[in-house]
Amino acid sequence: MLQALLDRVSPPIDSIPTPTRWPVFGHIPMLTRHGLMPVVEAARQKHGDFFRLVVGKHSLFVALHPDAVEQILLTDKDSYGKRDTYDAIRMLVGDGILTSEGELWRRERRIAQPSFNKGSVAALAGKMTRLTERTLADWTRRYRVGDEFDVYSELLGLAMEIIGETLFSLDLRAQVSESAHAFTVALEQVSGRGNQMLQLPLRWPTPGNLRLRKALRTLDEVTFDIIARRRAAGALGDDLLAAYLNARDEDGAPLDPRLVRDEIATFFLAGHETTAIALAWTFYLLGTHPAVWDKLIEEVDRLEGRVPTAEDVQSTLVYTKAVLQESLRLYPPTWSGGATSWPRPSSRAIACIRAIACSTCHS
Ligand code: HEM
Repeated sequence: MLQALLDRVSPPIDSIPTPTRWPVFGHIPMLTRHGLMPVVEAARQKHGDFFRLVVGKHSLFVALHPDAVEQILLTDKDSYGKRDTYDAIRMLVGDGILTSEGELWRRERRIAQPSFNKGSVAALAGKMTRLTERTLADWTRRYRVGDEFDVYSELLGLAMEIIGETLFSLDLRAQVSESAHAFTVALEQVSGRGNQMLQLPLRWPTPGNLRLRKALRTLDEVTFDIIARRRAAGALGDDLLAAYLNARDEDGAPLDPRLVRDEIATFFLAGHETTAIALAWTFYLLGTHPAVWDKLIEEVDRLEGRVPTAEDVQSTLVYTKAVLQESLRLYPPTWSGGATSWPRPSSRAIACIRAIACSTCHS
Protein backbone atom coordinates (compact mmCIF):
# COMPACT_ATOMS: atom_id res chain seq x y z
CA MET A 1 0.00 0.00 0.00
CA LEU A 2 2.74 2.44 1.07
CA GLN A 3 4.91 1.27 -1.85
CA ALA A 4 2.05 1.92 -4.28
CA LEU A 5 1.64 5.42 -2.84
CA LEU A 6 5.39 6.08 -3.08
CA ASP A 7 5.49 4.91 -6.69
CA ARG A 8 2.82 7.45 -7.54
CA VAL A 9 4.86 10.34 -6.13
CA SER A 10 8.35 9.11 -7.14
CA PRO A 11 9.60 7.50 -10.35
CA PRO A 12 10.12 3.71 -9.94
CA ILE A 13 13.34 3.28 -8.06
CA ASP A 14 14.60 0.61 -10.49
CA SER A 15 14.64 3.17 -13.31
CA ILE A 16 17.65 4.79 -11.65
CA PRO A 17 20.97 3.30 -12.89
CA THR A 18 22.27 0.82 -10.30
CA PRO A 19 25.56 -1.11 -10.63
CA THR A 20 25.37 -4.92 -10.41
CA ARG A 21 24.82 -5.94 -6.80
CA TRP A 22 24.48 -8.92 -4.47
CA PRO A 23 21.07 -10.19 -3.43
CA VAL A 24 20.04 -8.97 0.06
CA PHE A 25 23.33 -7.18 0.87
CA GLY A 26 23.34 -5.02 -2.25
CA HIS A 27 26.67 -3.18 -2.55
CA ILE A 28 27.80 -3.71 1.05
CA PRO A 29 30.34 -6.45 0.11
CA MET A 30 31.99 -4.15 -2.50
CA LEU A 31 31.97 -1.21 -0.09
CA THR A 32 33.50 -3.33 2.68
CA ARG A 33 36.17 -4.71 0.36
CA HIS A 34 37.14 -1.60 -1.63
CA GLY A 35 35.80 1.41 0.30
CA LEU A 36 33.42 4.10 -0.97
CA MET A 37 35.69 5.97 -3.42
CA PRO A 38 36.57 3.06 -5.79
CA VAL A 39 32.95 1.85 -5.83
CA VAL A 40 31.67 5.35 -6.65
CA GLU A 41 34.37 5.86 -9.32
CA ALA A 42 33.58 2.53 -11.03
CA ALA A 43 29.84 3.36 -11.00
CA ARG A 44 30.51 6.88 -12.33
CA GLN A 45 32.44 5.51 -15.29
CA LYS A 46 29.56 3.20 -16.16
CA HIS A 47 26.49 5.25 -15.24
CA GLY A 48 27.55 8.91 -15.24
CA ASP A 49 26.75 11.57 -12.65
CA PHE A 50 23.67 10.06 -10.98
CA PHE A 51 23.18 6.48 -9.81
CA ARG A 52 22.03 4.38 -6.88
CA LEU A 53 23.95 2.15 -4.50
CA VAL A 54 22.07 -0.33 -2.35
CA VAL A 55 23.18 -0.73 1.24
CA GLY A 56 21.11 -3.52 2.80
CA LYS A 57 17.55 -2.25 2.70
CA HIS A 58 18.58 1.37 2.11
CA SER A 59 19.19 3.17 -1.17
CA LEU A 60 22.06 5.59 -1.50
CA PHE A 61 21.51 8.02 -4.39
CA VAL A 62 24.85 9.37 -5.54
CA ALA A 63 24.75 12.77 -7.26
CA LEU A 64 28.15 13.93 -8.52
CA HIS A 65 27.60 16.99 -10.69
CA PRO A 66 28.25 20.33 -8.88
CA ASP A 67 24.82 21.67 -9.95
CA ALA A 68 23.12 18.63 -8.39
CA VAL A 69 25.20 19.05 -5.22
CA GLU A 70 24.18 22.72 -5.10
CA GLN A 71 20.57 21.76 -5.50
CA ILE A 72 20.70 19.26 -2.62
CA LEU A 73 22.84 21.31 -0.24
CA LEU A 74 21.47 24.80 -0.97
CA THR A 75 18.45 25.24 -3.23
CA ASP A 76 16.43 22.34 -1.88
CA LYS A 77 18.16 21.93 1.48
CA ASP A 78 14.96 22.03 3.56
CA SER A 79 13.89 18.75 1.93
CA TYR A 80 16.94 16.93 3.31
CA GLY A 81 18.10 16.12 6.81
CA LYS A 82 21.14 14.77 8.65
CA ARG A 83 19.51 11.68 10.14
CA ASP A 84 21.33 8.36 9.49
CA THR A 85 24.08 9.88 7.34
CA TYR A 86 25.54 11.77 10.32
CA ASP A 87 24.98 9.07 12.96
CA ALA A 88 28.54 7.76 12.78
CA ILE A 89 30.20 11.17 13.12
CA ARG A 90 27.72 12.01 15.91
CA MET A 91 29.60 9.45 18.04
CA LEU A 92 32.53 11.88 18.02
CA VAL A 93 30.95 15.30 18.05
CA GLY A 94 27.49 14.68 19.56
CA ASP A 95 25.03 17.42 18.69
CA GLY A 96 27.52 20.11 17.71
CA ILE A 97 26.90 22.49 14.79
CA LEU A 98 28.04 19.96 12.14
CA THR A 99 25.53 17.27 13.07
CA SER A 100 22.60 19.22 14.55
CA GLU A 101 19.49 20.29 12.66
CA GLY A 102 16.60 22.73 12.83
CA GLU A 103 16.30 25.07 15.80
CA LEU A 104 19.34 23.67 17.65
CA TRP A 105 21.54 24.17 14.55
CA ARG A 106 20.21 27.74 14.09
CA ARG A 107 20.98 28.54 17.73
CA GLU A 108 24.51 27.07 17.54
CA ARG A 109 25.10 28.88 14.26
CA ARG A 110 23.96 32.26 15.70
CA ILE A 111 26.43 31.86 18.58
CA ALA A 112 29.38 30.92 16.32
CA GLN A 113 28.73 33.33 13.42
CA PRO A 114 30.44 36.48 14.85
CA SER A 115 33.71 34.55 15.27
CA PHE A 116 33.79 33.86 11.53
CA ASN A 117 32.97 37.21 9.97
CA LYS A 118 35.66 38.77 7.79
CA GLY A 119 36.94 41.12 10.48
CA SER A 120 37.22 38.42 13.16
CA VAL A 121 39.11 36.07 10.87
CA ALA A 122 41.46 38.85 9.69
CA ALA A 123 42.15 39.73 13.34
CA LEU A 124 43.28 36.15 13.94
CA ALA A 125 45.67 36.06 10.97
CA GLY A 126 48.53 37.36 13.18
CA LYS A 127 48.20 34.38 15.54
CA MET A 128 48.07 31.98 12.58
CA THR A 129 51.23 33.34 10.96
CA ARG A 130 53.08 33.44 14.31
CA LEU A 131 52.32 29.77 14.95
CA THR A 132 53.25 28.88 11.37
CA GLU A 133 56.58 30.69 11.71
CA ARG A 134 57.25 28.79 14.93
CA THR A 135 56.62 25.48 13.14
CA LEU A 136 58.88 26.48 10.23
CA ALA A 137 61.66 27.43 12.67
CA ASP A 138 61.17 24.05 14.35
CA TRP A 139 61.46 22.24 10.98
CA THR A 140 64.62 24.17 10.20
CA ARG A 141 66.11 22.99 13.51
CA ARG A 142 65.04 19.37 13.14
CA TYR A 143 65.55 18.71 9.42
CA ARG A 144 68.06 19.45 6.72
CA VAL A 145 67.38 20.00 3.01
CA GLY A 146 66.80 16.57 1.44
CA ASP A 147 65.52 14.94 4.68
CA GLU A 148 62.25 13.04 4.43
CA PHE A 149 59.55 13.49 7.06
CA ASP A 150 55.82 12.96 7.46
CA VAL A 151 54.55 16.39 6.49
CA TYR A 152 50.89 15.43 7.11
CA SER A 153 51.33 14.67 10.81
CA GLU A 154 53.41 17.86 11.25
CA LEU A 155 50.64 19.89 9.61
CA LEU A 156 48.01 18.13 11.71
CA GLY A 157 49.81 19.35 14.83
CA LEU A 158 50.10 22.90 13.44
CA ALA A 159 46.41 23.02 12.47
CA MET A 160 45.44 21.83 15.91
CA GLU A 161 47.61 24.44 17.63
CA ILE A 162 46.02 27.12 15.42
CA ILE A 163 42.48 25.97 16.29
CA GLY A 164 43.44 25.95 19.99
CA GLU A 165 44.91 29.47 19.98
CA THR A 166 42.46 31.16 17.62
CA LEU A 167 39.15 29.68 18.78
CA PHE A 168 39.88 28.75 22.40
CA SER A 169 42.87 31.02 23.26
CA LEU A 170 44.77 27.99 24.52
CA ASP A 171 48.29 26.75 24.00
CA LEU A 172 47.60 23.11 23.23
CA ARG A 173 51.15 22.04 22.42
CA ALA A 174 51.19 19.62 25.37
CA GLN A 175 48.01 17.89 24.20
CA VAL A 176 48.52 17.99 20.44
CA SER A 177 49.94 14.55 19.88
CA GLU A 178 47.51 12.86 22.30
CA SER A 179 44.46 14.62 20.76
CA ALA A 180 45.57 14.21 17.14
CA HIS A 181 46.12 10.49 17.77
CA ALA A 182 42.70 10.13 19.46
CA PHE A 183 40.97 11.94 16.56
CA THR A 184 42.78 9.79 13.98
CA VAL A 185 41.86 6.53 15.75
CA ALA A 186 38.25 7.65 16.32
CA LEU A 187 37.81 8.74 12.69
CA GLU A 188 39.31 5.50 11.39
CA GLN A 189 37.02 3.41 13.57
CA VAL A 190 33.93 5.50 12.84
CA SER A 191 34.43 5.39 9.06
CA GLY A 192 35.32 1.68 9.28
CA ARG A 193 31.98 1.07 11.03
CA GLY A 194 30.22 2.88 8.18
CA ASN A 195 31.53 0.27 5.70
CA GLN A 196 30.81 -2.78 7.87
CA MET A 197 28.03 -5.22 6.98
CA LEU A 198 27.10 -5.54 10.62
CA GLN A 199 27.65 -2.73 13.08
CA LEU A 200 28.10 -4.18 16.55
CA PRO A 201 26.94 -1.98 19.46
CA LEU A 202 29.73 0.18 20.88
CA ARG A 203 29.43 -1.50 24.28
CA TRP A 204 30.57 -4.85 22.81
CA PRO A 205 34.28 -5.32 23.63
CA THR A 206 35.59 -5.94 20.09
CA PRO A 207 39.17 -4.70 19.46
CA GLY A 208 37.81 -1.88 17.22
CA ASN A 209 35.19 -0.84 19.78
CA LEU A 210 37.77 -0.83 22.57
CA ARG A 211 40.06 1.43 20.51
CA LEU A 212 37.15 3.73 19.66
CA ARG A 213 35.98 3.90 23.28
CA LYS A 214 39.50 4.77 24.46
CA ALA A 215 39.81 7.50 21.79
CA LEU A 216 36.40 8.93 22.74
CA ARG A 217 37.43 8.98 26.42
CA THR A 218 40.61 10.91 25.52
CA LEU A 219 38.61 13.41 23.45
CA ASP A 220 36.18 13.91 26.35
CA GLU A 221 39.09 14.48 28.74
CA VAL A 222 40.76 17.01 26.41
CA THR A 223 37.56 18.95 25.69
CA PHE A 224 36.25 19.01 29.29
CA ASP A 225 39.74 20.09 30.40
CA ILE A 226 39.58 23.02 27.95
CA ILE A 227 36.27 24.14 29.48
CA ALA A 228 37.53 23.68 33.05
CA ARG A 229 40.72 25.67 32.35
CA ARG A 230 38.68 28.54 30.94
CA ARG A 231 36.24 28.57 33.86
CA ALA A 232 39.15 28.45 36.33
CA ALA A 233 40.74 31.46 34.61
CA GLY A 234 37.70 33.55 35.67
CA ALA A 235 37.37 36.01 32.78
CA LEU A 236 35.61 34.33 29.89
CA GLY A 237 37.24 36.38 27.08
CA ASP A 238 35.86 37.04 23.60
CA ASP A 239 36.72 33.98 21.53
CA LEU A 240 34.49 31.19 20.21
CA LEU A 241 34.71 29.22 23.47
CA ALA A 242 33.59 32.31 25.40
CA ALA A 243 30.69 32.78 22.97
CA TYR A 244 29.45 29.25 23.76
CA LEU A 245 30.06 29.61 27.51
CA ASN A 246 28.34 33.03 27.63
CA ALA A 247 25.34 32.03 25.52
CA ARG A 248 21.95 32.13 27.24
CA ASP A 249 18.57 31.01 25.93
CA GLU A 250 15.42 33.13 26.25
CA ASP A 251 14.98 31.88 29.84
CA GLY A 252 18.54 32.90 30.71
CA ALA A 253 19.78 29.29 30.91
CA PRO A 254 23.35 28.56 29.67
CA LEU A 255 24.11 25.90 27.08
CA ASP A 256 24.23 22.39 28.48
CA PRO A 257 27.93 21.60 29.30
CA ARG A 258 27.67 18.49 27.12
CA LEU A 259 26.70 20.72 24.19
CA VAL A 260 29.67 23.02 24.82
CA ARG A 261 31.85 19.90 24.76
CA ASP A 262 30.23 18.88 21.46
CA GLU A 263 30.99 22.29 19.91
CA ILE A 264 34.64 22.15 20.94
CA ALA A 265 34.99 18.62 19.55
CA THR A 266 33.24 19.73 16.34
CA PHE A 267 35.51 22.70 15.71
CA PHE A 268 38.58 20.63 16.47
CA LEU A 269 37.49 17.91 14.12
CA ALA A 270 36.17 20.17 11.35
CA GLY A 271 39.10 22.57 11.57
CA HIS A 272 42.28 20.52 11.91
CA GLU A 273 42.06 17.42 9.75
CA THR A 274 40.61 19.18 6.71
CA THR A 275 43.23 21.93 6.75
CA ALA A 276 46.11 19.50 7.29
CA ILE A 277 44.94 17.27 4.42
CA ALA A 278 44.54 20.30 2.11
CA LEU A 279 48.03 21.58 2.91
CA ALA A 280 49.65 18.13 2.68
CA TRP A 281 48.22 17.63 -0.83
CA THR A 282 49.35 21.15 -1.76
CA PHE A 283 52.90 20.29 -0.66
CA TYR A 284 52.72 17.11 -2.72
CA LEU A 285 51.51 18.99 -5.80
CA LEU A 286 54.15 21.68 -5.41
CA GLY A 287 56.80 18.98 -5.05
CA THR A 288 55.70 17.36 -8.29
CA HIS A 289 55.27 20.64 -10.24
CA PRO A 290 58.56 22.55 -9.83
CA ALA A 291 57.56 25.31 -12.29
CA VAL A 292 54.49 26.12 -10.16
CA TRP A 293 56.64 26.05 -7.02
CA ASP A 294 59.08 28.58 -8.59
CA LYS A 295 56.23 30.91 -9.58
CA LEU A 296 54.70 30.72 -6.10
CA ILE A 297 58.04 31.51 -4.43
CA GLU A 298 58.49 34.45 -6.83
CA GLU A 299 55.15 35.86 -5.68
CA VAL A 300 55.88 35.33 -1.97
CA ASP A 301 59.31 36.97 -2.43
CA ARG A 302 57.53 40.15 -3.50
CA LEU A 303 56.54 40.59 0.18
CA GLU A 304 60.29 41.14 0.81
CA GLY A 305 60.39 39.03 3.97
CA ARG A 306 57.27 40.60 5.49
CA VAL A 307 54.86 38.16 7.17
CA PRO A 308 51.72 37.89 4.98
CA THR A 309 48.46 39.33 6.28
CA ALA A 310 44.86 38.29 5.60
CA GLU A 311 44.68 41.25 3.21
CA ASP A 312 47.67 39.89 1.21
CA VAL A 313 45.74 36.65 0.57
CA GLN A 314 43.00 38.68 -1.15
CA SER A 315 45.17 41.18 -3.04
CA THR A 316 48.88 40.29 -3.39
CA LEU A 317 49.07 36.49 -3.18
CA VAL A 318 46.75 35.82 -6.12
CA TYR A 319 48.81 32.96 -7.56
CA THR A 320 49.34 31.36 -4.13
CA LYS A 321 45.59 31.42 -3.52
CA ALA A 322 44.94 29.90 -6.95
CA VAL A 323 47.41 27.08 -6.16
CA LEU A 324 45.52 26.29 -2.95
CA GLN A 325 42.18 26.39 -4.72
CA GLU A 326 43.41 24.05 -7.46
CA SER A 327 44.77 21.68 -4.84
CA LEU A 328 41.35 21.72 -3.07
CA ARG A 329 39.69 21.00 -6.42
CA LEU A 330 41.99 18.09 -7.25
CA TYR A 331 42.14 16.56 -3.76
CA PRO A 332 39.16 17.78 -1.72
CA PRO A 333 39.67 16.86 1.97
CA THR A 334 35.95 16.14 2.38
CA TRP A 335 35.08 14.68 -1.00
CA SER A 336 31.68 13.27 -0.04
CA GLY A 337 28.76 14.30 2.11
CA GLY A 338 25.38 12.87 2.90
CA ALA A 339 21.85 14.17 3.12
CA THR A 340 18.87 12.08 4.16
CA SER A 341 15.52 12.24 2.48
CA TRP A 342 12.70 10.27 4.09
CA PRO A 343 10.98 8.06 3.05
CA ARG A 344 12.80 8.74 -0.24
CA PRO A 345 13.57 11.77 -2.43
CA SER A 346 10.51 13.38 -4.00
CA SER A 347 9.89 12.81 -7.71
CA ARG A 348 10.73 16.48 -8.27
CA ALA A 349 14.14 16.07 -6.57
CA ILE A 350 14.99 12.91 -8.55
CA ALA A 351 13.77 14.40 -11.83
CA CYS A 352 15.78 17.55 -11.20
CA ILE A 353 18.99 15.75 -10.24
CA ARG A 354 18.61 13.35 -13.14
CA ALA A 355 18.09 16.26 -15.54
CA ILE A 356 21.26 17.93 -14.28
CA ALA A 357 23.21 14.65 -14.58
CA CYS A 358 21.87 13.97 -18.12
CA SER A 359 22.52 17.49 -19.36
CA THR A 360 26.19 16.93 -18.52
CA CYS A 361 26.52 13.41 -19.94
CA HIS A 362 25.11 14.58 -23.28
CA SER A 363 27.00 17.87 -23.48
C1 HEM B 1 40.42 23.10 3.72
C2 HEM B 1 39.76 23.17 4.84
C3 HEM B 1 38.31 22.82 5.02
C4 HEM B 1 37.46 22.09 4.23
C5 HEM B 1 37.78 21.41 2.91
C6 HEM B 1 36.17 22.09 4.88
C7 HEM B 1 35.04 21.46 4.38
C8 HEM B 1 33.79 21.50 4.96
C9 HEM B 1 32.59 20.90 4.41
C10 HEM B 1 32.51 20.15 3.09
C11 HEM B 1 31.58 21.12 5.27
C12 HEM B 1 30.12 20.69 5.12
C13 HEM B 1 29.98 19.41 5.87
C14 HEM B 1 28.56 18.89 5.91
O1 HEM B 1 27.61 19.67 5.99
O2 HEM B 1 28.43 17.66 5.92
C15 HEM B 1 32.14 21.87 6.39
C16 HEM B 1 31.41 22.28 7.49
C17 HEM B 1 31.97 22.87 8.59
N1 HEM B 1 33.28 23.27 8.75
FE1 HEM B 1 34.73 23.09 7.37
N2 HEM B 1 36.27 22.79 6.05
C18 HEM B 1 37.54 23.25 6.18
C19 HEM B 1 38.08 23.99 7.21
C20 HEM B 1 37.39 24.30 8.36
C21 HEM B 1 37.94 25.03 9.47
C22 HEM B 1 39.37 25.58 9.55
C23 HEM B 1 36.96 25.10 10.43
C24 HEM B 1 36.99 25.72 11.80
C25 HEM B 1 37.70 26.74 12.14
C26 HEM B 1 35.77 24.44 9.89
C27 HEM B 1 34.58 24.32 10.55
C28 HEM B 1 33.43 23.80 9.99
C29 HEM B 1 32.15 23.77 10.69
C30 HEM B 1 31.87 24.26 12.11
C31 HEM B 1 31.22 23.18 9.81
C32 HEM B 1 29.73 22.96 10.06
C33 HEM B 1 29.01 24.26 9.66
C34 HEM B 1 27.50 24.20 9.78
O3 HEM B 1 26.91 23.13 9.58
O4 HEM B 1 26.91 25.24 10.05
N3 HEM B 1 36.08 23.99 8.64
N4 HEM B 1 33.48 22.10 6.17
